[in-house]
Amino acid sequence: MRVVILKDETAVSHRAADLLCGAVAKNPATVLGLATGGTPLGTYKEMVSRVERGEANFSECTTFNLDEYVGLEPGHSQSYRTFMESNLFAPAGFNLDICHLPPSSAKNLSVACSEYESSIEAAGGIEIQLLGIGTDGHIAFNEPSSSLASRTRVKALTEQTRKDNARFFDSIEQVPKLAITMGIGTILDASEIVLLATGASKASAVCAFIEGPISAQVPASALQLHPRVTVLLDEAAAGWLTRRSYYQQVEAIQEKLEQGDFDPNLI
Ligand code: PGA
Repeated sequence: MRVVILKDETAVSHRAADLLCGAVAKNPATVLGLATGGTPLGTYKEMVSRVERGEANFSECTTFNLDEYVGLEPGHSQSYRTFMESNLFAPAGFNLDICHLPPSSAKNLSVACSEYESSIEAAGGIEIQLLGIGTDGHIAFNEPSSSLASRTRVKALTEQTRKDNARFFDSIEQVPKLAITMGIGTILDASEIVLLATGASKASAVCAFIEGPISAQVPASALQLHPRVTVLLDEAAAGWLTRRSYYQQVEAIQEKLEQGDFDPNLI
């Protein structure tokens, strides 16, 4: 796991945008896995700015979002489709025909979940998956106790998650109790994963998933099993890490390797 500690939220957003835009510059038809929530907003803003400056083009990207609430009517201001369309898809010129979110208003949700899995597979799999993390250690809506091998399914949200997300609604009663979410197994199938965490409220979950044991009680800890994970943290989210100076040393070496000026005698 590559743990990158950056000065602030803006630096995290810029680095995440570099990774996504870099992949799309190499392959304009990259299949992106996308996330909602407060954390990726800065990244999406930066992606939009790059499109406006003519530095990026996402019109050929197929996308799959991690999750969607069950029970909100289509077009609801807090549905994740509305969030994605207004914060990224429309302003960054994505082709809406190939932007997918879990179909949470389908009549038969379990069929809709397996169809979502099949459409990811038919697109060739997710190449780069963006993730946030919940204060309870969840990724997507895989709450503590989710199977580490889970696939897309309907999941009940914890009280903690509903409390955390109540800020987007008028009251906690309006926060849905269910969502469709990609499973942890689905997420681990992505070729590359980029997890973002900012702010002190994430410090405990960040420490638990990076430095603690792999456990269904901390769903993000399953990422320890994936060979290509980059974790982008601001100072506050990195606050509980005990091996911080080691991560910084590894990162400095990694940067030199990437720049091609690596001299083992200088370490
Ligand atoms: P947040 O949510 O970005 O709004 O903090 C993250 C998550 O729940 O995965």
